Amino acid sequence: METIIVKTPSMEGKIHVGKDAVKKRLPALTEGQTNFVVTDSNVYALYQAWFETYFPKTEIFVLPAGEENKNFQSLYGILEKMAGAGMRRTSRLFAVGGGVVGDIGGLAAALYMRGISCVQIPTTLLAQVDSSVGGKTAVDLGGVKNIVGAFYQPCEVLIDPTFLQTLPQREIKCGLGEIVKYAALSGEIFDLLSDNMGRWTDLAFLKTLITACVAHKARVVELDEKEAGERRSLNVGHTTGHAIELTSGLSHGESVLYGMLLETRMAISVGICEKEYGKKLLTLIEAAIALEPLEKVDFSNIEKDAEKARSDKKNTDDGKIKIAVATAKGQWTICALSFCEYVLSLKQAVNA
Ligand SMILES: NC(=O)c1ccc[n+]([C@@H]2O[C@H](COP(=O)([O-])OP(=O)(O)OC[C@H]3O[C@@H](n4cnc5c(N)ncnc54)[C@H](O)[C@@H]3O)[C@@H](O)[C@H]2O)c1
Repeated sequence: METIIVKTPSMEGKIHVGKDAVKKRLPALTEGQTNFVVTDSNVYALYQAWFETYFPKTEIFVLPAGEENKNFQSLYGILEKMAGAGMRRTSRLFAVGGGVVGDIGGLAAALYMRGISCVQIPTTLLAQVDSSVGGKTAVDLGGVKNIVGAFYQPCEVLIDPTFLQTLPQREIKCGLGEIVKYAALSGEIFDLLSDNMGRWTDLAFLKTLITACVAHKARVVELDEKEAGERRSLNVGHTTGHAIELTSGLSHGESVLYGMLLETRMAISVGICEKEYGKKLLTLIEAAIALEPLEKVDFSNIEKDAEKARSDKKNTDDGKIKIAVATAKGQWTICALSFCEYVLSLKQAVNA
């Protein structure tokens, strides 16, 4: 088990990665206070025996699986159940599942009695490499992703890659979406992915990737917990990705891959991204997309996607659409485009 420390102005958290992370840390973390678990219906069905072992007398809230349930109604249901279970300020919430469970469970922990202890146990690749780390919690509202939320750091994150054994290949691809994002930001992860193209779904290699991505994210979050500077880099592919997610119904990870594909093409065409490097990055993005190809992704109504990008919460009052793009190996920048410029270059990128 490897341990990565994240120190932010709000708190110091520990991220444990390895197949013994849960076994080594969970018994101590569940002792001495009232606990509450948030999970989803798929994870609960697959891991019922696991829950019986680690949470025998604990209230477990089982959220129906799916992004459409990352909303206020579900959040209210969780908070109501927490109050009903007699949770106190000293109690602890465990979020066991993918990014949906982690985001809504983390927000419930942040809100209940103005904040109780939270432990994240991510079970998807996407949650293990990205969403469980860094303290962003949220629900969606009015067709906008993650618009209501809080920065709230978990005290510990337990990342056990053996959970990935039951994960469908399409969800592995979603996690690779975020991993390729890290490759766009870190030369080390870029090389790791490029040099091991045939091993992307191999569990041992995924553990190496998880540790590298989490270490990168931890460093970024330490520098900029509230996304005023460096942390904006982690939005590579996400402005267009979130728009695609809302209009196409594709999953978050897949949408991020398409968002990165289009934004990288845009950055190459306007000369912000080095051409040779950009081509290599596109190769990684396309290889991740090809892992589990979809029949067709419909970009015919690109203005609708652009409208969604306009309401993205990363934009500020100047009316510009902000996209974070890789410019060269290990380097990135923020590109601010007017709505018309964005639509035009998005159209060109779709047809490139
Ligand atoms: N907080 C952050 O920093 C951050 C970063 C990136 C993404 N996100 C959010 O994360 C969400 C996407 O996360 P996700 O891709 O994990 O989606 P998800 O939570 O919906 O999980 C995907 C699917 O996998 C199933 N599943 C989970 N673990 C499993 C396992 N071990 N075996 C089999 N099936 C399993 C789930 O039930 C679900 O059907 C989005 O809402 C996105 O906005 C948050």
